[in-house]
Order: sequence, then C-alpha cells, then structure tokens
Amino acid sequence: MQAIETLDIQDWQPGVNPTVSQQAILALEQGKVLHLPGLSFPMQESENIFYSPQWLSGKRKNISLEGSEVRGATAPPETLAQLGSMIGRYTKRSSSLINSLFPGYMHHLNQARTSFRPSEVENSSLSWKKDDSRLHVDAFPSRPTHGERILRVFTNVNPSGIARIWRVGEPFEAAAQHFLPHISRPVPGSAKLLHLFKITKRPRSEYDHIMLQLHDLMKADAGYQKNVPQQEVDFAPGSTWICFSDQVLHAAMSGQFMFEQTFHLPISALYHPELSPLRVLERLKGHRLTA
Ligand code: SIN
Ligand code: FE
Repeated sequence: MQAIETLDIQDWQPGVNPTVSQQAILALEQGKVLHLPGLSFPMQESENIFYSPQWLSGKRKNISLEGSEVRGATAPPETLAQLGSMIGRYTKRSSSLINSLFPGYMHHLNQARTSFRPSEVENSSLSWKKDDSRLHVDAFPSRPTHGERILRVFTNVNPSGIARIWRVGEPFEAAAQHFLPHISRPVPGSAKLLHLFKITKRPRSEYDHIMLQLHDLMKADAGYQKNVPQQEVDFAPGSTWICFSDQVLHAAMSGQFMFEQTFHLPISALYHPELSPLRVLERLKGHRLTA
C-alpha cells in the first residue's frame, strides 16, 4: 500500500470538490498520511525571533497552547503573548482545514493541544520508549482513549530549507497481526489500581493496554524497525501533512521548527469506523476491547 496520499491544496479553508473529499477521507481513514505540499503556514516578520530553541523552558521540547495558556516557554509576558497568538493562529487554521476536508467530523472534534516545536528532532539521548525516531503508533501511558482517535496536523516552517524526515511503516493491521501473539491480557485489577493512583486519567481499557504494548514492543524490536516495509518521506518547509497517529506507523528522523495540532475524535464520527484501530483489533481478537 502506498503510505502517502498527495493533495493539491493551497488554502487553509479550501473549497473541496466531493470527489477529492471522498478520496481524502478514504485515504486518511485507511491509515495513509495526507500530504499537502503546497500548504504553508505564514509567519509574521516579528515572529522570526521564535526560530530558536531559546524560549523553551528547561528540558521542554515543545511550546504549547492549551486553551489560552502558553506552556513550555520562558519569556517576558509580551513575548509569551506573541507566542500565544502565533500558535493560536495555527489552531484556527488547522481547525478550518480539518472542517473543510472532513465535514462529517466537524461537530465531534475535540480540539486538544497545539504545539510549536523549535528544537531539533532528537534520537540519541532518549530512552527507547520516548524515542520517536523508532516506528510507533501513538499511545500514551497516562491518557487512555478507549478507542477515540488521535488526529494530527503538522506543518514544517523551517526557514533554512530543511525538510522534516519521517519513516512511515506497514499498514496498522499487518503490524497488529505481527505483534498480537506477544501481547497478553492486562493483569486483572491493574487498570483500577493505575487509575486509583492517578497514573492514568481514567481506567485503561483492554484496547489501551494493547495499544501501549504495540507502541512499546514495536519500538523495542530492532529487527522489526529495520526490516518492516517502510517508506522515507521528506516533508519540505512550507508543507503540511495530516494523519491518524494512532494508526499510522511513523518515526521522526530529523527536522526542526514545526507546528502540530492534535484533535480527538470519537469512532462514531468516522466515515469508515471498521478501519479504525479499535475495530481492527476487535476483529483480530474476536471480542470487544472497551467496556
Ligand atoms: C511523533 O509524533 O512521533 C513525532 C512527530 C514529529 O516530531 O515530527
Ligand atoms: Fe508519534
């Protein structure tokens, strides 16, 4: 399967004809990365000061906007406000893009974090679990989703012509078939305990348990990382891409200066729910994976 679908779109609020729209929806929900090579995010001249990791607090890698609050940056109040308005513009643009391309999602999208990533992609000094230069699907230990989707929009804004380089792996179902035999059931009672001790924000479902195991087993398996069918993709500055990062096997190899917007989406809002990781895993396991 071709892992990338290219769309000729130059506008954050594009008028999309129904054929293009259907093609984009199917590709996205099948687990492809939609690449919009002509869609850039214009920065203002006064924002050139943000082309530097200097504003990051401590060891943070991202500056994010959560509601109206800027997190992860240390700067004077007026600079923080400027960061907030820059990131907020990305929130607005990425939302209007998703609403235009996928009108069926519109009233169900839960807008999560918007982030600006001014540091270089790092892959050496991290523990293997945190190393996103290894192929993985997104699954977070503290944030059980119960099957809700993780939809992400990315834009490379590198000012020096440097692409963001990803690897994209095999389809989700193939990866699931590869690793499922090595995933055992959660220890009875563990989901309750993790929630009780506030390690998770809500109890983990069996789906979350499997997704975390998939994430970890995949990252830990050097042979799989090397040998699985995969494709390297260069996302040039001035380009945007969209994917369900809980489904697409992805790895970030290099790059600097990117915006990212996360949305959560219930399965019921999908055009093809049967293609979602939850439904695919349930079919393979032969039972329901959420309560
Ligand atoms: C990731 O989501 O794993 C990293 C994406 C990136 O930094 O390009
Ligand atoms: Fe990821």
